[in-house]
Amino acid sequence: MALNKDSKAYTLIVAAVICLVGSVLVSTAAVVLKPQQTANRQLDRQVNILRVAGLYEPGIDVAAVFDERVEAKVIDFTTGEVAEGKDPSNFDPKAEARDPANRLSLSSAEDIAGVGDHSKFGLVYLVRDKDDKISRIVVPIHGYGLWSTMYAFLALESDADTVAGISYYQQAETPGLGGEVENPRWTAQWEGKEIYGEDGDVAFRLVRGGASPDDKHGVDALSGATLTSKGVTNSVRYWLSNSAYRGYLEKVRKGNADV
Ligand SMILES: Cc1cc2nc3c(=O)[nH]c(=O)nc-3n(C[C@H](O)[C@H](O)[C@H](O)COP(=O)(O)O)c2cc1C
Repeated sequence: MALNKDSKAYTLIVAAVICLVGSVLVSTAAVVLKPQQTANRQLDRQVNILRVAGLYEPGIDVAAVFDERVEAKVIDFTTGEVAEGKDPSNFDPKAEARDPANRLSLSSAEDIAGVGDHSKFGLVYLVRDKDDKISRIVVPIHGYGLWSTMYAFLALESDADTVAGISYYQQAETPGLGGEVENPRWTAQWEGKEIYGEDGDVAFRLVRGGASPDDKHGVDALSGATLTSKGVTNSVRYWLSNSAYRGYLEKVRKGNADV
């Protein structure tokens, strides 16, 4: 029996078929494209690391240069040592943090960068020169600004103290205000600044009103973006402190071969 095209049943059946076909298409696309998305995310990460390490040029074979020059390591923040048995290529800090044994719980006084509880392990990227000596150490950092968590790679020289570069690659601050964290004219000021003060604590900070030219640890705060600037300072203070990468960076600085 033919269905009446003007009936409610016909309309419902057509709507149900369209929903079914649409959902099958969307789920198939999600499954089929997942490996490509994962590969793209990894490529993007590698480009950002090479860029902050000064090794990126348009047209290079990113994966090949990365494999040749960059070595990823998983660090245990509680010991400052390279973590045994953790494979950097599939290390996922969020998944690690689900296990309470691998999680660092921060009090609100400790959590100056607004990162919340996180894995007690983290990645670093050692960049080697042609003679296989460490030339840069790239540390992932993040912290809360005004509207968003801001993610960056911070590159240090082989002294594990002097800034070689900073690259913010994910943030949602206001374009033209906090969003200026990505402005190369501003990030250029970071080069040559020193992270640690005489006492060994993090002395690097953004200075409201402008840093004086002879300030070894200061960079101009972003104008009209005091809260984003505080977030940037606190991200560096947190991730380069004893709570995270400082122990490991000290080992690199002392030339510990097993880094
Ligand atoms: C539309 C709008 C967007 C803003 N975006 C930011 C921002 O991205 N980062 C930031 O620190 N402040 C931003 N501000 C400014 C802050 O609200 C705040 O006034 C600013 O950080 C200066 O703080 P201060 O007055 O204590 O120096 C924005 C303000 C407005 C009205």
